[in-house]
This record gives sequence, structure tokens and C-alpha cells, in this order.
Amino acid sequence: MKSQIIKILRSDNKIVSGEELSTVLGVSRVSVWKHIQLLQESGYTIVAGPKGYKLESSPDALFTWEFPEREPNFHYLPEISSTMDIARNMARKGCPHFTVVIAERQKKGRGRLNRVWLSSEGGLYFTLVLRPEIPVALASRITFLASVVLVQILRKLYDIDARVKWPNDILVEGKKISGMLSEMEAQADMVTFINIGIGINVNNDPSAEEPGATSLKSLKAKELSRKELLSLFLDEFENRLNTESLDNIIPQWKHYTMTLNQVVKIVTTRDTYEGIAVDIDENGTLLLKLQNGTIQKVLCGDCFQ
Ligand code: BTN
Repeated sequence: MKSQIIKILRSDNKIVSGEELSTVLGVSRVSVWKHIQLLQESGYTIVAGPKGYKLESSPDALFTWEFPEREPNFHYLPEISSTMDIARNMARKGCPHFTVVIAERQKKGRGRLNRVWLSSEGGLYFTLVLRPEIPVALASRITFLASVVLVQILRKLYDIDARVKWPNDILVEGKKISGMLSEMEAQADMVTFINIGIGINVNNDPSAEEPGATSLKSLKAKELSRKELLSLFLDEFENRLNTESLDNIIPQWKHYTMTLNQVVKIVTTRDTYEGIAVDIDENGTLLLKLQNGTIQKVLCGDCFQ
């Protein structure tokens, strides 16, 4: 109902009477008024006058009704522990492919290697539940595709020199604006689900505890539309998942990376390595040339460069 009201008010961009809304929507005028009040409470400026309703402005909202074509697989939650936890529960209960779980704030946002992902208001924090029907060996390519799509969108939309740091961080001018975390479950070597959690610093101000981070707002010196960024990303990622050959992903990732041919320190849950990042293989494993000349393969870890 709310998505329809918003659509009508936006498409006409003029005063629409309560009677017209109630006829088009097939509900009473009282019901229309109740939904208008809820929209007003959610931050929409809707002026109610003697001739009807006029939408003056909308918040940069990620409410489910702002993504009507994605309902019922789009779940907006104002504040939760972590979208990863909710998405994992939903995936285990059998939710469909490309379910989106998004939060305005996370109280226990998680990063890779058990780090905390501070998730204050203004950022984008979401997890996608994917069921790609592929063997486990190919699963990492899906997360690499997510970082390729996001880096391309950020470059196009905001004209910024966004680059990927192995494995899936996105940096601009050496500072992090996005991180990804993936979790997977499998059965008999086939993926049951891969959940990709993405955090993007959009209009939030990274805290003093995150000196290596920046936000799109501070790069562009203005607030940006999270809805526009999220919509473009979801549409493009979904489309590329359906059409892109899994063999094309790593070559594209290499085009945007800042990690290859650099001296790097890699920290994993068990070890720390230093060397030159000479290549990544077709599944995203980093090939590190150590000082003694041997090649160390690293499947996952954190990269400092
Ligand atoms: C990292 O760079 O270490 C990965 C950060 C991933 C953060 C996102 S925000 C949405 C999702 N929910 C979480 O708790 N973490 C991921």
C-alpha cells in the first residue's frame, strides 16, 4: 500500500485527492489517511490540504516499500545485531535466492577475522543470500564478482578512483570505503547458500577508531543517495550473476586491483606473511612471493599494503 501511495504521489508530483487515492487503491479514505500518517512519521514530507495530498520530499530511505519490485525478498530492519546473523537464519530456513537483509544500524556488525564493523547511521549495511548452484570450489568467485560490480558502480556514479584491495575491500585514495564478508554452507560439495555481507561508508562518519576509513560523503563533500547506490548495485549484481561466465570474474578484478605487484603483509587467523603479491589464481587465492623466493598461496586473510 505504501509503495503504491508513494508511486502515485511521485508520478504526478501534484496534489492528489484522498478520494482519487482511495478509488485507485481500492481502500477507504480513512485507510489512505492512516498510511499517509505512517509515511509522514517515517520521514516523508506529505502536505495534507483541502484538495488532497502533495509529496514535498522523501527521506533517503531503504524501507521495503521503496523497493517494491524486490518484495517479498527484501527485509529492512531499523536496528539489529548483524545482517549476517539474520541472513544466516533465513538461509537455513530456506529463503529464496537473492534475499536482501538490510539494517539502518548494526549493534554487532562483523568484519573479517573477527573484527568489529562499526555500523553507525548513514551507511549501507546489508547481506545477500545467494543460491548459485555451483560447486564449493567456485564459490569465492561470487564474492569477487560482487567487488567488481561495486567498484565499477562507485567509479561510474561518483567519478572516483575506487580500487579493490585483496580480497574484497574497496579503497579510494588509500582509504577504505567498503568491506565484504562472506559465509557459506554446502552439501556434498555443492553450495547450499553463500551470504555476502557488504558494508559501505556512504553518509556515515567513520569514527576515530577507524583511521584508515573514509566515506563517500567526505570524498564528494555532500550527502549521497543510499537508495540510488543500493538499487544500482542490486540490479547490476543480479544481472551479472545471471549472465556472466564465472571464468571472466578474476580477470576483471585484476583490472581494478591495487594489490598486485606490491609488497604486502598478509595476516591470516594462523600466520603472517610478507612478500610480493605476484598474482591471484582463478578462484582468488593470493600468490605471494616470499623473501626466500618461494610462492605462498593464501586463501583468505587481511592484506596490509
Ligand atoms: C571487512 O572489511 O572486514 C568486512 C566488513 C563487512 C561488513 C558488513 S556490514 C553488513 C554485514 N553485516 C555484518 O555484520 N558485516 C557485514
